[in-house]
Amino acid sequence: MDNFAFVIHPLNPKRDVARKYPLLAKVLPTPLIHFFSRFWPPVYLSHVVGVRSEATGTEIEGWLVACPFTARQMLQLPPRAVYKKIVETGGLAQRLGARILGLLAFTSVVGDGGVAIARRLSIPITTGRSLTVAVAVEALEEGARSKGIRPESAIAAVVGATGSIGSACAELLAPMVAELVLVGRRESRLAKTEARVREAGARLVRASTHVEDIREADMVLSATNAARPVIQPQHLKRDSVVCDVALPPDVSPRVARERDDVLVIEGGIVDVPGEVDFGFDFGLPPGKAYACMAETMVLALDGRYESYSLGRQIRIEQVREIAQLASKHGFRVSATG
Ligand SMILES: NC(=O)c1ccc[n+]([C@@H]2O[C@H](COP(=O)([O-])OP(=O)(O)OC[C@H]3O[C@@H](n4cnc5c(N)ncnc54)[C@H](OP(=O)(O)O)[C@@H]3O)[C@@H](O)[C@H]2O)c1
Repeated sequence: MDNFAFVIHPLNPKRDVARKYPLLAKVLPTPLIHFFSRFWPPVYLSHVVGVRSEATGTEIEGWLVACPFTARQMLQLPPRAVYKKIVETGGLAQRLGARILGLLAFTSVVGDGGVAIARRLSIPITTGRSLTVAVAVEALEEGARSKGIRPESAIAAVVGATGSIGSACAELLAPMVAELVLVGRRESRLAKTEARVREAGARLVRASTHVEDIREADMVLSATNAARPVIQPQHLKRDSVVCDVALPPDVSPRVARERDDVLVIEGGIVDVPGEVDFGFDFGLPPGKAYACMAETMVLALDGRYESYSLGRQIRIEQVREIAQLASKHGFRVSATG
């Protein structure tokens, strides 16, 4: 049977560790979870069944394995130590018989975007970023239309526009919207994204290092790698729509409590074709998956056992190709608001 595996890791230490070790999460304070995560071995989580292509009827299986490092450890430890642990976790997937491996959340953000990890494993790797970009932009566009916003006359902002996902999303959005606001932390990197979006057909572009500058935007797409929320209620325009791709989320929970005029979509989420059972609660409702997981499943359904989205630069041709394959096999954008 065609198959795949995903590597996940704890984003919220208490909540996520409790999903596998409820007692341990109850007794250990968060700082100790961070500490022990350094020494914990890779963890087998579950067997995934029931993913079925709408196009071919083919069913595939998979496995969820966990790299124990928390998001904080992923960012603070030297990349070599992080690679080592992710490669060990990939080794576990290989021993289970996985033919392609998806790197999820910070396992794909650290270092060179999967290239060094792919070199050390003997199965192909994908970060799932290409489909994440396609799904996030489609969800934002659908969300905007549902609120009566016409993208062609709207101001759109991308927060984390210097990043791998953010810059590719900005490139896709460029010809669709009236004006684009690019928000990042470093002016030199913002200039590169600005050049990229102008070439992609952007009409008006502004770059900023202040998140406050999204205040005029009707549509916001956020994809930073910040460990804490960067978008607060006071940053958002009245009746705007926000697609939050970041894991952990960029949008503060205060926005849901204080701004019921704003539509916040958890970006990069899809409905999986078939009757999928992931065998583990990774935080989404049944039948739904992150787009980066979906990319791995799409490649397995299509028999494309090749490393796909690797490295930090996302190519728009790949974004379009994987979106087409995903649609063919029956994956649909889920606008979870
Ligand atoms: N939903 C999904 O399926 C899915 C799939 C893959 C990834 N993701 C998530 O998407 C996010 C982005 O991933 P990526 O691979 O594109 O990461 P990345 O290449 O590291 O880019 C993140 C960018 O965010 C910028 N940034 C950090 N803090 C910021 C702030 N406070 N204000 C503005 N910009 C800020 C960084 O700027 P500097 O360069 O200055 O540090 C960096 O350019 C991550 O949260 C990841 O977990 C989601």
